[in-house]
Amino acid sequence: MIEYADVVVGCCWGDEGKGKVTASLASKLNDDGSSFYSAVARWAGGNNAGHTVFKGGKEYKTHLIPSGVFYGIKSIIGPGCVLNVNSFLEEVSYLDDAGFDTSLIKVSPKCHIITDEHITYDKRNLAGKLGTTSKGIAPAYSSKAARTGMLAKDVLDDKYIWDEMLEGKVLCEGAQGVWLDMDYGLYPYVTSSTTLPYAACSIGFPPQKIRNIWGVAKAYDTRSGEDPRFPSSLFDDIELSKVGDIGKEYGVTTGRRRKVNWLNLDDLVRSINLSGVNQLVINKCDILECANLYRVIHKNEKISFSSFAKMKLHIDDVLSGSCPMLTNVLYSYSPENI
Ligand code: IMP
Ligand code: MG
Repeated sequence: MIEYADVVVGCCWGDEGKGKVTASLASKLNDDGSSFYSAVARWAGGNNAGHTVFKGGKEYKTHLIPSGVFYGIKSIIGPGCVLNVNSFLEEVSYLDDAGFDTSLIKVSPKCHIITDEHITYDKRNLAGKLGTTSKGIAPAYSSKAARTGMLAKDVLDDKYIWDEMLEGKVLCEGAQGVWLDMDYGLYPYVTSSTTLPYAACSIGFPPQKIRNIWGVAKAYDTRSGEDPRFPSSLFDDIELSKVGDIGKEYGVTTGRRRKVNWLNLDDLVRSINLSGVNQLVINKCDILECANLYRVIHKNEKISFSSFAKMKLHIDDVLSGSCPMLTNVLYSYSPENI
């Protein structure tokens, strides 16, 4: 029986640095040197995601496989995910070549398969209009809902199929972010799964087992893909372009330049309260310091500060006054550590 689950969730539009937070939590050890978590599992999405993990001075990029494998922990792709078999196998061999134990990687037998037809449909009909990642995500979830889909257990080698047993402490790794959630994002500018942390229970445990919910945000907002709230005119803003360039805001999966905007505190408060975040990490604070630009959007107004310290005081003040479940806020200045 599972002891408890901790969940990592993106508080914005994805690309907040969940990979780094997950990796940092997954590296935690018990006193006897064994891993603190017994499994790292994903509950939603597919290879539309892109996680960057720095380990031992090297940078690794994955799209599908949870970050547990970097720390010798079982890595589970849950039943709510969709699986592109070719990119899964490519990622397994990439990790194998890098020297990681890929026998730890397991896929739920119930995981739905992304077919070539799904990808073709996405490219032809959705990518242009919605700025999807063209990975066949929406059509695969459509087939799942229409009950015409194919399951991992029917196509994947048995050695990869998860026995559906969970024990000890489980770390659940979110993909995308709250504002890409199919129900709570700005439909239809959303992805096709539930990105909110309650959906982590679909991995196979009841809601009472959730202990910490780690929310991840950035010191500024970014958006890859179409969204009326992020007009392309943002690309023309000199200050925001500077932040995007210094922050290397290009998609891990698509290589597209991301639109950048100042951190919207009203959205962040809503996202924290909607997801039940009790531990918040705000990433990439070093980027604003490097750009020497400190701005947020609060109550629909842009507010400017003369230093990050002053901006931080304002953020702390707003969050402590509006987020009763939030107990801890960490500001991160490093790509490798929280
Ligand atoms: P889809 O998930 O490929 O259907 O794309 C739907 C929307 O979600 C598009 O706006 C994508 O840019 C966005 N999206 C999907 N996955 C990610 C991600 O991992 N990071 C950021 N945006 C994403
Ligand atoms: Mg990502």
